[in-house]
Amino acid sequence: MMTPLIDPFARAISYLRVSVTDRCDFRCVYCMSENMTFLPKKDLLTLEELDRLCSAFVRLGVKKLRITGGEPLVRRDILTFFKAMGRHLDSGALEELTLTTNGSQLEKYAADLYAAGVRRINVSLDTLDEAKFAQITRWGKLPQVLRGIDAAQAAGLRVKINTVALKGFNEEELFTLTDWCAARDMDLTFIEVMPMGDIGNEDRIDQYWSLNDLRARLAARGTLTDLPDRTGGPARYLRVDATGQKIGLITPLSHNFCESCNRVRITCTGEIYTCLGQEGHSDLRAPLRGSEADQDLENAIRAAIALKPKGHDFDYSRQKVDGQVSRHMSHTGG
Ligand code: GTP
Ligand code: 5AD
Ligand code: SF4
Repeated sequence: MMTPLIDPFARAISYLRVSVTDRCDFRCVYCMSENMTFLPKKDLLTLEELDRLCSAFVRLGVKKLRITGGEPLVRRDILTFFKAMGRHLDSGALEELTLTTNGSQLEKYAADLYAAGVRRINVSLDTLDEAKFAQITRWGKLPQVLRGIDAAQAAGLRVKINTVALKGFNEEELFTLTDWCAARDMDLTFIEVMPMGDIGNEDRIDQYWSLNDLRARLAARGTLTDLPDRTGGPARYLRVDATGQKIGLITPLSHNFCESCNRVRITCTGEIYTCLGQEGHSDLRAPLRGSEADQDLENAIRAAIALKPKGHDFDYSRQKVDGQVSRHMSHTGG
């Protein structure tokens, strides 16, 4: 049995998030600039390289693999990669293969994802209003995403909706969103907006809607119970007692959860970021391309994990944005 990946703060790394492309067919305003330039395709890891890299992490004890982007389903031939990762589910080495998606391509891919072994997916959706959806994604079409969600549920995938909580944007939709998810038997997670990317971070404070406030609004409508369940992700869950609905809160700003961090991120070019909220990263593409020996790659992974910092420094409490990182969220897929 190989020694598991443990970081300098005694946290075991069991969750790998892999961005397979920096491209996306939407441009959510808090995530990408409108005229975002994308990487030349030759800089991306090939699907075979991604396979080799992810398989090394699985050997080192990763149990949960989340495919992200950009939008992962716009990468050409991405199903081949999902199918390849499915073999780690079959062997029992991997417990969960999943993805975070904007939903635009789900109509096409849902059934094949299920066949590859995916059982649960997270779909980003910030509003149920068609005009507001087009505004936040810059040109996304809500009906296309809703059809994708229908297809996912019809294929047997459990769907969780991710909603970035944005003051003055979706505050008034709080109950519309919760009730819509409850009626469709979907979990819902709200996320506090994080200061990432060079896209007007000065506006983040105006956009920031604390989930303490959101929780108080939910509590005013009916009793809530804190749940012990975790998915291995960063959300804390609560139950709306009247309906049994489960709602997740991801609160990097109002309640830092770094001490229980179990994850690292790989970019589509093979860099490893050991913290979402820090600039520090290491290159795994050179060891991947420079040697065919798995041991060399595993050594490079261990060396990177040894540099994992304690946590992020995001902070809006001084009425200015502290701790921002210049990298766009799409670079590491959240
Ligand atoms: P589950 O498996 O459903 O728990 O998923 P997840 O929450 O791990 O993944 P998802 O892709 O849905 O991420 C939701 C949000 O959580 C994204 O906005 C991420 O950026 C944010 N997030 C995930 N991990 C971290 C983290 O380590 N630190 C911070 N600050 N945010 C994180
Ligand atoms: N802050 C918080 N969440 C963000 N996401 C993208 N950018 C940000 C940000 N600046 C979310 C997306 C998606 C998830 C992977 O990250 O909406 O649900
Ligand atoms: Fe695309 Fe997701 Fe970023 Fe929106 S948040 S632009 S859907 S990668």
